[in-house]
Amino acid sequence: MQTGSLVCVGTGMTLGSHISPLSRSYIEQADVVFVLVADGITEKWIEQMNADVRSLQPYYLEGKSRMLTYREMVAAMLVEVKAGKKVVGAFYGHPGVFAWVPHNAIKQARELGFSAHMEPGISAEDCLYADLGIDPGTYGCQHYEASQFMFYKRNIDTAAYLILWQVGVAGDRSLAKFSTDSEYRKVLVKLLTEYYPSEHEVILYEAATLPIQPIRIDLMPLVILPDAVMDLKTTLIIPPTNKAELNTVLLAELEGLNAKKNM
Ligand SMILES: C[S@@+](CC[C@H](N)C(=O)[O-])C[C@H]1O[C@@H](n2cnc3c(N)ncnc32)[C@H](O)[C@@H]1O
Repeated sequence: MQTGSLVCVGTGMTLGSHISPLSRSYIEQADVVFVLVADGITEKWIEQMNADVRSLQPYYLEGKSRMLTYREMVAAMLVEVKAGKKVVGAFYGHPGVFAWVPHNAIKQARELGFSAHMEPGISAEDCLYADLGIDPGTYGCQHYEASQFMFYKRNIDTAAYLILWQVGVAGDRSLAKFSTDSEYRKVLVKLLTEYYPSEHEVILYEAATLPIQPIRIDLMPLVILPDAVMDLKTTLIIPPTNKAELNTVLLAELEGLNAKKNM
C-alpha cells in the first residue's frame, strides 16, 4: 500500500450539528481537505478545522458539463493522494448519496493502490424522513435522480413513495445548467400524470442547512409543479396514491409452506 490516502466524509446537512466525531477527526488530521458544501458559511466552519482547506466550488461553472467538473474535482484530489498526502474530501450530506465525485475518487485511488474509504453523513434523505415524518418502511420508497427518471423507462410503484432528486434541473440533457424552466417541468409532470392524478398532492422539500433557517415543506397539487419555485437544493416527494395489492398467489404458497412445516 502506498503512503497517500483518501477519506471522503459527510458533513451532514445542517451547519455544526450533523457531522460525526469520526468525520471531524479525519478533517482535523488531514494534510489537505477538499470541501464541497452547501454554502460559504459552512465552508468557513470547515476552514477552522484544518490549515489547508480547498474549496471544490470554483470548478462549477454555468454552461460547463457537470461531468467535466466532477472529473476535474476527482483529479484535483488524486494529485495530492499521489503526492503521498493524507487527503480528505468533505462533502455536504452523505458523501455516497447522489454524489459521483466521492465514489469515483475512492474507486480511482484504490485502483492506484492507495488506501481509500468513505465515512457516512446525514443526508437530505435522512432529514426528510425526520422533517416530514415519513418512514420508508411503511409503504416503501423509490429514489431517482429526476432527469434519469425522465430519460429512462421505469416501473413506478404508486403504492410507495417516489422521491425525485435534483428536480430543479429536471430534464437537462447537457448537464451544464444550474436550473431548468417550467417547460422542462411540464414534461416531467406529463410523465408523472401517467401514474398519478393531476390533483395528487406532492411536496417540495428543503432541509435547513443553517440552524436559523426554516425548513421548506410546500404541499401542492402535481399540476402546478411547473410554476413552483425550486433550485439545486429542492427535493420532490410524491406520496403514494393507492394501496398496495395483496399478492394472493404468494400468500397461498406461504400458507402451504406453513402447513407443511407444522405437520
Ligand atoms: C448532488 S445531490 C447531493 C445529495 C447529498 N449528497 C445528500 O447526502 O443529501 C443534490 C440533491 O440533493 C438534494 N438536496 C440537497 N440539499 C438539500 C436540502 N437542503 N434539502 C433537501 N434536499 C436537498 C436535492 O434533491 C439536490 O438536487
